[in-house]
Amino acid sequence: MALILGIETSCDETAASVVENGRRILSNVVASQIDLHAPYGGVFPEIASREHVLKIIPVIEDALKDAGIAFRDLAAVAVTHGPGLAGSLLVGVNTAKAIAFANDKPLIGINHLEGHIYANWLELSTKDTKKHEEKIFPLIALIVSGGHSEIVLMCAHNDYRQLGHTIDDAAGEAFDKVARLLGLGFPGGPAIQKAAETGDPNAFALPRAWLTDPYNFSFSGLKTAALHLVRKLDNAALPVADIAASFQAAITDVLVEKTIRAAQEHHVAQILLAGGVAANARLRAQMIARAPVPVLIPPPQLCVDNGAMIASAAWWHLERGERSGWDLDVVTSLRLQSTDERGQKANG
Ligand code: KG4
Ligand code: ZN
Repeated sequence: MALILGIETSCDETAASVVENGRRILSNVVASQIDLHAPYGGVFPEIASREHVLKIIPVIEDALKDAGIAFRDLAAVAVTHGPGLAGSLLVGVNTAKAIAFANDKPLIGINHLEGHIYANWLELSTKDTKKHEEKIFPLIALIVSGGHSEIVLMCAHNDYRQLGHTIDDAAGEAFDKVARLLGLGFPGGPAIQKAAETGDPNAFALPRAWLTDPYNFSFSGLKTAALHLVRKLDNAALPVADIAASFQAAITDVLVEKTIRAAQEHHVAQILLAGGVAANARLRAQMIARAPVPVLIPPPQLCVDNGAMIASAAWWHLERGERSGWDLDVVTSLRLQSTDERGQKANG
């Protein structure tokens, strides 16, 4: 039995969790900073890192207490070392190093996006029962968060090939910006979803950017179209629900269509959704309804940032004997890599 402490501080959540063998969550503590950033309509980096400093030790102590274990019971300490905000990442990485070093435990640096993918291996995660098969690879993962929108092909654990990415805004960023435009507050994704419940998704024809590259995304045109629409309409009687529903339909149509196309082209066994935007009810429903293969999606609370997903991703690295050195550094624009790329870097 391997217990891993997963620490996550890449953005605005201070999170720590203890996970057994990459799957069973023994504790999962998240200190959210949403209220602190809400007045700014987005994450304020300086405030985020200062708050992480205040919260990191109590959050880790709570995670150990909830799991009923001590540092000596751990098999490893895992931490997000990128991508993310430099000052925020540093708090997690330095704390993880101190705990691992002082307790003579392996340190494992994890890519935040890899963590989002591995939320799907946590036991709480739901399986679409349509046609579930044991065979899990190859698979297509759609990672959609506040900072990223990527379509990734995985042929084995911890082995990633990026097929497409956003060329401008991330999906979550588009949700957040349009929510601000509509006066719906921060974070925008859940607010737009809520407003859209009573709206008509066909009320306004907002653009879907298909692009020549089939797996890349662009959401800035959609954002601008929403801005022009709001300016054109009467502000006193803005049809917020209809705009929110039309925007949500436009963005999720593109995410679903491109993911399914990638799944078909690569003859994959399943599709995984990951990242904060994967909490979106329309995206989840449409993907399950339209996908020709089973779809795995973490429950909404595991789609957003948490430490359990970091501990889960780390377990497969630990199984292969992979460790990080004490010189592990934060990499604000860290990319997902294939096993070969990681091996080449370690060798040279
Ligand atoms: O993965 P995450 O917690 O943090 C990053 O790594 O960025 O994702 C946060 C993003 C925010 O942009 C938020 O608006 C979006 O996920 N989000 C949603 C929903 N819940 C969170 N977007 C659409 N619908 C939701 N229900
Ligand atoms: Zn995230």
